[in-house]
Amino acid sequence: MQIISDIPVLREQRREWQASAKVIAFVPTMGNLHQGHLNLVREAKKHADIVVVSIFVNPMQFGPDEDLDAYPRTLNDDAAKLEALDVSVLFVPKVSDIYARGLEQQTFVEVPGISYMICGASRPGHFRGVATIVCKLFNMVQPNLAFFGEKDFQQLQVIKAMVTDLSMNLQVIGVATTRESDGLAMSSRNQYLNAEQRALAPILYEQLTMIASAIEQGRRDFSMLVSLGKQHLAELGFNPDYIEIRNAENLLPPGHEDTQLVILAAAFLGKTRLIDNIQIQL
Ligand code: PAF
Repeated sequence: MQIISDIPVLREQRREWQASAKVIAFVPTMGNLHQGHLNLVREAKKHADIVVVSIFVNPMQFGPDEDLDAYPRTLNDDAAKLEALDVSVLFVPKVSDIYARGLEQQTFVEVPGISYMICGASRPGHFRGVATIVCKLFNMVQPNLAFFGEKDFQQLQVIKAMVTDLSMNLQVIGVATTRESDGLAMSSRNQYLNAEQRALAPILYEQLTMIASAIEQGRRDFSMLVSLGKQHLAELGFNPDYIEIRNAENLLPPGHEDTQLVILAAAFLGKTRLIDNIQIQL
Protein backbone atom coordinates (compact mmCIF):
# COMPACT_ATOMS: atom_id res chain seq x y z
CA MET A 1 0.00 0.00 0.00
CA GLN A 2 1.30 3.40 -0.99
CA ILE A 3 0.71 6.26 1.45
CA ILE A 4 0.41 9.55 -0.44
CA SER A 5 -0.01 12.94 1.13
CA ASP A 6 0.89 15.21 -1.80
CA ILE A 7 -1.88 16.01 -4.25
CA PRO A 8 0.48 16.16 -7.32
CA VAL A 9 1.83 12.68 -6.47
CA LEU A 10 -1.73 11.35 -6.30
CA ARG A 11 -2.54 12.95 -9.65
CA GLU A 12 0.54 11.37 -11.26
CA GLN A 13 -0.48 7.96 -9.90
CA ARG A 14 -4.00 8.57 -11.20
CA ARG A 15 -2.62 9.21 -14.71
CA GLU A 16 -0.78 5.87 -14.65
CA TRP A 17 -3.93 3.98 -13.64
CA GLN A 18 -5.88 5.73 -16.35
CA ALA A 19 -3.31 4.72 -18.97
CA SER A 20 -3.89 1.07 -18.06
CA ALA A 21 -7.71 1.50 -17.95
CA LYS A 22 -8.05 0.50 -14.31
CA VAL A 23 -11.38 0.82 -12.51
CA ILE A 24 -10.82 3.02 -9.45
CA ALA A 25 -12.94 2.84 -6.31
CA PHE A 26 -12.73 5.46 -3.60
CA VAL A 27 -13.62 5.30 0.09
CA PRO A 28 -13.37 8.70 1.78
CA THR A 29 -13.06 8.60 5.59
CA MET A 30 -12.02 10.71 8.54
CA GLY A 31 -9.96 7.83 9.95
CA ASN A 32 -10.32 6.06 13.31
CA LEU A 33 -11.37 3.10 11.21
CA HIS A 34 -13.72 0.40 12.48
CA GLN A 35 -15.32 -2.64 10.83
CA GLY A 36 -17.93 -0.38 9.19
CA HIS A 37 -15.20 1.44 7.25
CA LEU A 38 -13.39 -1.82 6.50
CA ASN A 39 -16.60 -3.26 5.05
CA LEU A 40 -16.78 -0.27 2.70
CA VAL A 41 -13.27 -1.14 1.56
CA ARG A 42 -14.18 -4.84 1.15
CA GLU A 43 -17.19 -3.84 -0.95
CA ALA A 44 -15.07 -1.44 -3.01
CA LYS A 45 -12.56 -4.21 -3.72
CA LYS A 46 -15.30 -6.36 -5.24
CA HIS A 47 -16.00 -3.72 -7.89
CA ALA A 48 -12.61 -2.25 -8.81
CA ASP A 49 -8.97 -2.89 -9.71
CA ILE A 50 -7.68 -0.08 -7.52
CA VAL A 51 -9.02 1.04 -4.12
CA VAL A 52 -8.07 4.45 -2.79
CA VAL A 53 -8.97 5.31 0.82
CA SER A 54 -8.58 8.85 2.11
CA ILE A 55 -8.20 9.92 5.71
CA PHE A 56 -8.89 13.60 6.25
CA VAL A 57 -10.49 15.12 9.33
CA ASN A 58 -12.35 17.87 7.56
CA PRO A 59 -12.51 21.11 9.59
CA MET A 60 -15.20 22.53 7.30
CA GLN A 61 -17.85 20.04 8.43
CA PHE A 62 -17.41 20.66 12.17
CA GLY A 63 -19.59 23.26 13.87
CA PRO A 64 -18.14 25.80 16.32
CA ASP A 65 -19.39 23.75 19.29
CA GLU A 66 -18.16 20.45 17.89
CA ASP A 67 -14.71 19.51 19.06
CA LEU A 68 -12.58 19.16 15.93
CA ASP A 69 -9.36 18.97 17.97
CA ALA A 70 -10.66 16.06 20.05
CA TYR A 71 -11.57 13.98 16.98
CA PRO A 72 -9.59 10.72 17.34
CA ARG A 73 -6.57 10.56 15.03
CA THR A 74 -5.17 7.02 14.79
CA LEU A 75 -3.22 7.05 11.54
CA ASN A 76 -0.77 4.21 12.28
CA ASP A 77 -3.51 1.79 13.36
CA ASP A 78 -5.68 2.84 10.41
CA ALA A 79 -2.83 2.33 7.93
CA ALA A 80 -2.17 -1.17 9.31
CA LYS A 81 -5.85 -2.12 8.90
CA LEU A 82 -5.91 -0.87 5.31
CA GLU A 83 -2.60 -2.53 4.47
CA ALA A 84 -4.06 -5.84 5.69
CA LEU A 85 -6.93 -5.38 3.22
CA ASP A 86 -4.46 -4.73 0.42
CA VAL A 87 -5.68 -1.21 -0.33
CA SER A 88 -3.75 0.35 -3.22
CA VAL A 89 -3.36 3.90 -1.92
CA LEU A 90 -4.00 5.60 1.39
CA PHE A 91 -4.37 9.30 0.65
CA VAL A 92 -3.73 11.54 3.67
CA PRO A 93 -3.77 15.15 2.48
CA LYS A 94 -2.75 18.06 4.68
CA VAL A 95 -5.29 20.69 5.79
CA SER A 96 -3.03 23.41 4.35
CA ASP A 97 -3.09 21.74 0.90
CA ILE A 98 -6.82 21.05 0.93
CA TYR A 99 -7.74 24.55 2.08
CA ALA A 100 -4.81 26.34 0.44
CA ARG A 101 -6.48 29.79 0.54
CA GLY A 102 -7.84 29.26 4.06
CA LEU A 103 -11.27 28.14 5.17
CA GLU A 104 -12.73 31.65 5.07
CA GLN A 105 -11.98 32.02 1.35
CA GLN A 106 -12.96 28.50 0.39
CA THR A 107 -15.29 28.06 -2.59
CA PHE A 108 -18.01 25.73 -1.38
CA VAL A 109 -20.55 23.25 -2.66
CA GLU A 110 -24.01 23.47 -1.18
CA VAL A 111 -26.78 21.05 -2.05
CA PRO A 112 -29.90 23.04 -1.22
CA GLY A 113 -33.01 21.62 0.42
CA ILE A 114 -31.80 18.22 1.46
CA SER A 115 -28.83 19.76 3.33
CA TYR A 116 -30.97 21.96 5.55
CA MET A 117 -33.39 19.39 6.98
CA ILE A 118 -33.08 16.70 9.67
CA CYS A 119 -29.37 16.51 10.70
CA GLY A 120 -28.71 19.65 8.65
CA ALA A 121 -31.18 21.59 10.82
CA SER A 122 -29.37 20.46 13.98
CA ARG A 123 -25.90 21.01 12.47
CA PRO A 124 -26.04 24.16 10.26
CA GLY A 125 -23.30 24.18 7.63
CA HIS A 126 -22.38 20.55 8.22
CA PHE A 127 -23.49 19.24 4.83
CA ARG A 128 -21.92 22.20 3.04
CA GLY A 129 -18.63 21.09 4.61
CA VAL A 130 -19.24 17.47 3.64
CA ALA A 131 -20.27 18.24 0.04
CA THR A 132 -17.31 20.60 -0.42
CA ILE A 133 -14.68 18.16 0.82
CA VAL A 134 -16.18 15.20 -1.03
CA CYS A 135 -16.28 17.24 -4.25
CA LYS A 136 -12.63 18.26 -3.77
CA LEU A 137 -11.57 14.68 -3.02
CA PHE A 138 -13.48 13.44 -6.08
CA ASN A 139 -11.58 16.01 -8.17
CA MET A 140 -8.27 14.73 -6.82
CA VAL A 141 -8.90 10.97 -6.93
CA GLN A 142 -11.25 11.01 -9.97
CA PRO A 143 -12.75 7.64 -9.06
CA ASN A 144 -15.15 5.59 -11.16
CA LEU A 145 -16.97 4.47 -8.03
CA ALA A 146 -17.28 5.92 -4.54
CA PHE A 147 -18.51 4.06 -1.46
CA PHE A 148 -20.33 5.55 1.54
CA GLY A 149 -22.02 3.94 4.53
CA GLU A 150 -25.81 3.99 4.78
CA LYS A 151 -25.45 4.76 8.47
CA ASP A 152 -24.97 8.40 7.42
CA PHE A 153 -28.05 8.13 5.27
CA GLN A 154 -28.63 11.84 4.76
CA GLN A 155 -24.96 12.36 3.89
CA LEU A 156 -25.27 9.63 1.25
CA GLN A 157 -28.34 11.32 -0.29
CA VAL A 158 -26.63 14.74 -0.23
CA ILE A 159 -23.62 13.29 -2.07
CA LYS A 160 -25.82 11.50 -4.61
CA ALA A 161 -27.68 14.78 -5.26
CA MET A 162 -24.39 16.66 -5.65
CA VAL A 163 -23.09 14.09 -8.16
CA THR A 164 -26.31 14.39 -10.18
CA ASP A 165 -26.50 18.18 -9.98
CA LEU A 166 -22.86 18.72 -10.95
CA SER A 167 -22.91 16.00 -13.65
CA MET A 168 -19.99 14.20 -12.02
CA ASN A 169 -18.77 11.18 -13.91
CA LEU A 170 -18.87 8.56 -11.17
CA GLN A 171 -21.24 6.18 -9.43
CA VAL A 172 -21.99 6.55 -5.72
CA ILE A 173 -22.68 3.27 -3.94
CA GLY A 174 -24.28 3.02 -0.49
CA VAL A 175 -23.23 0.13 1.74
CA ALA A 176 -25.44 -1.34 4.48
CA THR A 177 -24.68 -0.28 8.06
CA THR A 178 -22.35 -2.59 9.97
CA ARG A 179 -23.74 -3.38 13.43
CA GLU A 180 -22.41 -4.75 16.68
CA SER A 181 -23.98 -8.06 17.73
CA ASP A 182 -26.54 -6.17 19.87
CA GLY A 183 -27.64 -4.04 16.89
CA LEU A 184 -25.76 -0.82 17.67
CA ALA A 185 -24.55 0.81 14.46
CA MET A 186 -20.75 0.95 14.39
CA SER A 187 -19.44 4.47 14.77
CA SER A 188 -16.25 6.16 15.91
CA ARG A 189 -18.42 7.94 18.46
CA ASN A 190 -19.35 4.71 20.28
CA GLN A 191 -15.98 4.82 22.04
CA TYR A 192 -17.12 7.93 23.93
CA LEU A 193 -19.93 6.01 25.65
CA ASN A 194 -19.41 4.89 29.25
CA ALA A 195 -20.49 1.35 30.23
CA GLU A 196 -23.99 2.42 31.23
CA GLN A 197 -24.53 4.44 28.05
CA ARG A 198 -23.10 1.62 25.92
CA ALA A 199 -25.65 -0.78 27.43
CA LEU A 200 -28.48 1.64 26.53
CA ALA A 201 -27.22 2.55 23.05
CA PRO A 202 -28.75 -0.40 21.09
CA ILE A 203 -32.20 0.79 22.16
CA LEU A 204 -31.99 3.50 19.50
CA TYR A 205 -32.02 0.87 16.75
CA GLU A 206 -34.61 -1.22 18.61
CA GLN A 207 -36.88 1.83 18.62
CA LEU A 208 -36.43 2.31 14.87
CA THR A 209 -37.14 -1.38 14.29
CA MET A 210 -40.35 -1.13 16.33
CA ILE A 211 -41.56 1.87 14.34
CA ALA A 212 -40.64 0.12 11.07
CA SER A 213 -42.63 -2.99 11.94
CA ALA A 214 -45.61 -0.90 13.07
CA ILE A 215 -45.60 0.82 9.64
CA GLU A 216 -45.14 -2.50 7.86
CA GLN A 217 -48.19 -3.78 9.75
CA GLY A 218 -50.25 -0.89 8.42
CA ARG A 219 -49.91 1.98 10.92
CA ARG A 220 -49.91 5.35 9.15
CA ASP A 221 -50.17 7.68 12.17
CA PHE A 222 -46.55 8.70 11.65
CA SER A 223 -46.54 11.68 14.01
CA MET A 224 -47.93 9.53 16.83
CA LEU A 225 -45.31 6.83 16.18
CA VAL A 226 -42.58 9.47 16.21
CA SER A 227 -43.71 11.15 19.40
CA LEU A 228 -44.15 7.82 21.23
CA GLY A 229 -40.69 6.79 20.02
CA LYS A 230 -39.09 9.99 21.30
CA GLN A 231 -40.96 9.70 24.60
CA HIS A 232 -39.75 6.13 25.03
CA LEU A 233 -36.14 7.09 24.31
CA ALA A 234 -36.35 10.02 26.76
CA GLU A 235 -37.78 7.79 29.51
CA LEU A 236 -34.86 5.42 29.07
CA GLY A 237 -32.21 8.13 29.43
CA PHE A 238 -31.65 9.40 25.89
CA ASN A 239 -31.99 13.02 24.92
CA PRO A 240 -33.67 12.59 21.53
CA ASP A 241 -32.82 15.13 18.82
CA TYR A 242 -35.22 13.81 16.21
CA ILE A 243 -37.02 10.80 14.82
CA GLU A 244 -38.22 11.37 11.26
CA ILE A 245 -40.10 9.18 8.79
CA ARG A 246 -39.21 10.29 5.26
CA ASN A 247 -39.19 9.40 1.59
CA ALA A 248 -35.93 7.43 1.24
CA GLU A 249 -34.76 9.27 -1.86
CA ASN A 250 -35.45 12.96 -1.35
CA LEU A 251 -35.92 12.82 2.44
CA LEU A 252 -39.14 14.83 2.20
CA PRO A 253 -42.14 13.89 4.36
CA PRO A 254 -43.70 10.91 2.58
CA GLY A 255 -46.82 11.15 0.45
CA HIS A 256 -49.48 8.43 0.25
CA GLU A 257 -47.93 6.99 -2.90
CA ASP A 258 -44.40 6.65 -1.52
CA THR A 259 -43.24 3.08 -1.06
CA GLN A 260 -39.58 3.54 -0.15
CA LEU A 261 -39.33 5.08 3.31
CA VAL A 262 -36.54 5.66 5.77
CA ILE A 263 -36.85 6.26 9.50
CA LEU A 264 -33.99 8.37 10.78
CA ALA A 265 -33.09 9.14 14.38
CA ALA A 266 -30.52 11.11 16.33
CA ALA A 267 -30.29 11.05 20.10
CA PHE A 268 -27.75 12.04 22.71
CA LEU A 269 -26.47 9.75 25.43
CA GLY A 270 -24.65 12.22 27.64
CA LYS A 271 -22.60 14.34 25.24
CA THR A 272 -22.44 11.65 22.55
CA ARG A 273 -24.79 12.10 19.63
CA LEU A 274 -25.78 8.79 18.03
CA ILE A 275 -27.52 8.53 14.68
CA ASP A 276 -29.14 5.58 12.99
CA ASN A 277 -31.77 4.76 10.39
CA ILE A 278 -33.75 1.92 8.93
CA GLN A 279 -35.21 1.66 5.43
CA ILE A 280 -38.61 0.15 4.69
CA GLN A 281 -40.24 -0.88 1.47
CA LEU A 282 -44.04 -0.83 1.57
O1 PAF B 1 -18.51 10.18 6.69
C1 PAF B 1 -17.40 10.72 6.85
O2 PAF B 1 -16.46 10.15 7.45
C2 PAF B 1 -17.16 12.12 6.32
O3 PAF B 1 -18.29 12.90 6.44
C3 PAF B 1 -16.61 12.14 4.90
C4 PAF B 1 -17.59 11.56 3.91
C5 PAF B 1 -15.31 11.36 4.83
C6 PAF B 1 -16.33 13.58 4.47
O4 PAF B 1 -15.40 14.18 5.32
